[in-house]
Amino acid sequence: MSEPHRRIDLVLNGERRECDVPVRASLADLVRSLGATGTRVGCEHGVCGTCTVLLDGEPVRGCLVLAVQAEGRAVTTIEGLAEGDDLHPVQRAFVEHRALQCGFCTPGFVLLAASLLDREPAASEERIVEVMSSNLCRCTGYAPILAAVRAAQAERA
Ligand code: FES
Ligand code: FES
Repeated sequence: MSEPHRRIDLVLNGERRECDVPVRASLADLVRSLGATGTRVGCEHGVCGTCTVLLDGEPVRGCLVLAVQAEGRAVTTIEGLAEGDDLHPVQRAFVEHRALQCGFCTPGFVLLAASLLDREPAASEERIVEVMSSNLCRCTGYAPILAAVRAAQAERA
């Protein structure tokens, strides 16, 4: 028996998209199938955060959200953050502070940091550590990631 599908409408990185999705597909798989392959899929059970995308501006684990839950909502992936050739300040700070090595975790961290600074521009050091510790990075040891978030926060201020 074929898996049931449902037609949904969403806005992906500012562009309206209509698609037919399997009802059990995850949001991470949906955005990747629509070309937003910067969204990485790691553990697929909500632990690593590498699949983080923004749903109406809020970070969510793309592997834990069903694609059909994006109906009528705005989804931002790493592809939607830069404006043309201008990197988002968090992206620039990650480059300047060498906050990535293999890069697998980077899209999730950048989106998490960008949404934190949007929603809590004056986030304390403890708050930044708390939020960024929800995602896993096996390479950097976190210090450069935290330095990059602080630098992006200072630039905004
Ligand atoms: S792949 Fe979604 S949290 Fe790990
Ligand atoms: S840079 Fe490799 S997992 Fe984070």
